[in-house]
Amino acid sequence: MTFGTVARISILLPLYILIDTVIAEPYVEGDRRIFPADATNVELHTYTGDSGVPDTYIVKLKQEVDPQTASTFVDNLKSEPYSVTNGRSSAFENDPSVGVMMDFGDTKMVVVETQEEGLRLLRRRVDVVEAIYQDSIVTTAQAPVCHVPCECPAAEEPVDNNVCPPKTAATDWGLDRIDQTNGQLDGKFNVMGTGSDVNVYIFDSGIYAEHQEFSNSDGSTRVSEGFKALDSWNFTDIYGHGTHVAGIIGGKTVGVAKNVNLINVKILNDAGSGQVSWAIWAMYEAAFPILATGQKSIMVLALQSSRNDAFNDVIQTFTNYGVTIITGSGNNNGLSFYQSPGSSEAAITVGASATGDTKAIYSNYGPEVDIWAPGTDILSSTTGSPDAYDQGSGTSVAAAFVAGAAAAYMSSLDYRPAPAEVAAYLIQQAADNVVTDSPTQHNCRWEATCYGAHFWSCRIKWDFFSKCPQHARRRYGLRLTVQTLRPIL
Ligand SMILES: *[C@@H]1O[C@H](CO)[C@@H](O)[C@H](O)[C@H]1NC(C)=O
Repeated sequence: MTFGTVARISILLPLYILIDTVIAEPYVEGDRRIFPADATNVELHTYTGDSGVPDTYIVKLKQEVDPQTASTFVDNLKSEPYSVTNGRSSAFENDPSVGVMMDFGDTKMVVVETQEEGLRLLRRRVDVVEAIYQDSIVTTAQAPVCHVPCECPAAEEPVDNNVCPPKTAATDWGLDRIDQTNGQLDGKFNVMGTGSDVNVYIFDSGIYAEHQEFSNSDGSTRVSEGFKALDSWNFTDIYGHGTHVAGIIGGKTVGVAKNVNLINVKILNDAGSGQVSWAIWAMYEAAFPILATGQKSIMVLALQSSRNDAFNDVIQTFTNYGVTIITGSGNNNGLSFYQSPGSSEAAITVGASATGDTKAIYSNYGPEVDIWAPGTDILSSTTGSPDAYDQGSGTSVAAAFVAGAAAAYMSSLDYRPAPAEVAAYLIQQAADNVVTDSPTQHNCRWEATCYGAHFWSCRIKWDFFSKCPQHARRRYGLRLTVQTLRPIL
């Protein structure tokens, strides 16, 4: 038996080495496993944890593929062994975009449901396919969760599951804070511009259109139905997140841009969860009205997924087309690099601050964060009845304030500004180096866990540096320039 094993190994070993020279080794970055392209396989991104949607892939086609080849390729996807629509293991409902080519102009994508054999064959299509990205779960990630080392204030020691206890007293400080550079609140909110000719597309859990925050004097609502990811849905917001975000952007009393047009794009289910492929599909479907009219348009993606480069690609595409896209940095108290859309370079990425201009305990940070805005304990509309309100926290909330400010600014212009112009304006209005972060600055030092008061008792995790992407490592030890939002007085 021993001899047999040795013999088998000695036969297999040369074969393994031979294969190894052809197939590039995968590497892990955050919770993604990336299989690089090689001579016969295209690049493939999957997930090591449970952020990936099983058996579902977003396939990006090569830019130079001619339309005939692309459509033949997509038609063939509907046959075995690619298609496993009946046998899929996902807990989610079927994606209506499966098998439909989404032509974004400079990018073409198709969502495929397939298992191992189909995936292996897809990777071989180096003639047509640029890269394959596993689909991923996207959520609102609304609740502030303390990560080790937990940054809850001393009075709020975390209880179960490291979650900070909810606040009770309403402290509606967000609007007050964003109209001034100084942290001394004056109890006033002054904004120039109402957002009245700006369409804000809110990709979320739906919007409760009947809320009094959105009603016009004649009883009609400023919320219109845009697009929903699944045919079986209606546009109602059961979860409440979309209504909360919409209220901050454009509610009549709790909102920034008090007369903006709010467009309901429902991509999250009643538990606040969805798939990145649904978001991309909704962006594709929502794109035509935006691009055709040339109206002032903002897409708000107050969402969070593990980093998904297909999502980031589509955000880049729409930004190139002139749509301003605003997102939160994500709620992991980690680098936004590992989240989407937080890692998107094209979007205006917003970090969240708490009262006293400190970094909110949950807010992601890093070089992709463009601006900071209030995110903790913000009162806004919620679903269920026209006068229902709730406090919420998260980088979603911070993104909503910036989206409102962007809408107010855009409505004060007589043309549609480019996304870069909107970003430049907001950043120029913001005050530098206001948001602080104690006890450490925003960088990879967060990976160190200290016991007691002595430096030598710090246990540096083995992945101290490996978890930091290259561009973040360069910033190690530096204080990031952080900003707070000051829109348009
Ligand atoms: C809309 O869908 C929700 C579930 O998401 C359901 O509870 C509600 O009754 C539906 N409303 C209508 C008017 O069909």
